[in-house]
Amino acid sequence: EGPAGLDISKLLKETDHVTLDVGFVNTASCKSEITFIDGDAGILRYRGYPIDQLAGKVSFLEVSYLLIYGELPTQQQLDHFSDRVRNHTLLHEEMRRFFDGFPRDAHPMPVLSSAVSALSTFYQDNLNPFDKEQVDLSTVRLLAKVPTIASYAYKKSIGQPLLYPDNSLGYVENFLRMTFGVPTTPYEVDPVVARVLDMLFVLHADHEQNCSTSTVRLVGSSQANLFASVSAGVNALFGPLHGGANQSVLEMLEAIHASGDDVDAFVRKVKNRESGIKLMGFGHRVYKNYDPRAAIVKKAAQEVLGRMANPDPLLDIAMRLEEVALSDEYFVSRKLYPNVDFYTGLIYKAMGFPTKMFTVLFALGRLPGWIAQWREMIEDPDTKIGRPRQVYVGQPERSFVPIEQR
Ligand code: ACO
Repeated sequence: EGPAGLDISKLLKETDHVTLDVGFVNTASCKSEITFIDGDAGILRYRGYPIDQLAGKVSFLEVSYLLIYGELPTQQQLDHFSDRVRNHTLLHEEMRRFFDGFPRDAHPMPVLSSAVSALSTFYQDNLNPFDKEQVDLSTVRLLAKVPTIASYAYKKSIGQPLLYPDNSLGYVENFLRMTFGVPTTPYEVDPVVARVLDMLFVLHADHEQNCSTSTVRLVGSSQANLFASVSAGVNALFGPLHGGANQSVLEMLEAIHASGDDVDAFVRKVKNRESGIKLMGFGHRVYKNYDPRAAIVKKAAQEVLGRMANPDPLLDIAMRLEEVALSDEYFVSRKLYPNVDFYTGLIYKAMGFPTKMFTVLFALGRLPGWIAQWREMIEDPDTKIGRPRQVYVGQPERSFVPIEQR
């Protein structure tokens, strides 16, 4: 509806050469060879490989290579790629001081996006989007440095000293040590934690044209460099309807627990749309069936939480919520199923991550997808600057009134 007295149908006619598709529900913005989703059948494939054949069988760096370069690497290619990443894990010393500028209780997501954006200032001579070697170097730098940045953002928030990377460790192991280790005590990486976290990164690695990836492509379509584009993607991911959902799910489960574990009462509130609350971690723009990633994450949650001496009561609440929702007409008729983030927060919590770090973990996982999509966009000769149109529904032309006469 426009302002009173406005003939909207006339305005729509004047712009009827454009398509109004709020939220891009039906509009493809690009062609892509990277990821395939069939939302009705619950299928997800990276470069043709079904997600259930990759999860738990390939490492995160292997999947990164697959997404970015199009094929699974040979052992030699993987070793070379991993060595390159390992060589770039350090942050510039000046950048370590960067973290002191934020308030101690800063959320690590904006710290991450700011630091990723700042990489453009440290590597100014290597930002040409059309120079393949420079793009490759930025690719490696991002994969190498984002875990260091993420762990520093965390260390800063708890007042502990920053740890230099230990490049004798694997990718995920190094990140865990920088996050949970302290300089005075040797840090033993729990192999189960490292294996499951690596797998969760694989599950998050790409998801075609989601909100953050579309943001990365849109920013990059102006020929902004890879760091600037990925930094924008981190900000898009921060929102609770996207990556921020994993934090919101845990907060929701905690609130249900605090109010006496009444799952049915919570579901009633969602259905009655009380204060606009949603069942966080449920629903997806594309999946109208069980998210194939959620099924794998649920199993992992049972494994990781099953090892704990005192079982987390929130797992039970989550499983009951799922059971109630999947047999309730409201959720069934709207095809609302658990998405990838319904169970991830429980695993991250069991691993010792504070709730504020959950979305950062999503960002670490999504990084190769953003990079692969940006590179595909920049290399595509059909790419144009992203510039959507609009249907104007504001005032028709009117005459200016000086301020003393208003
Ligand atoms: N709880 C309750 N109702 C819901 C939920 C939910 N989680 N999700 C959708 N609905 C309802 C909507 O209110 C709407 O009902 P209506 O038609 O009666 O008005 C209907 O289902 C369709 O939902 P839309 O919002 O139109 O679906 P859309 O595709 O625009 O949104 C989204 C998808 C944002 C994921 C939505 O399902 C949601 O907000 N979910 C909760 C947040 C979440 O988990 N986000 C993570 C998404 S996955 C990811 O980024 C990793």
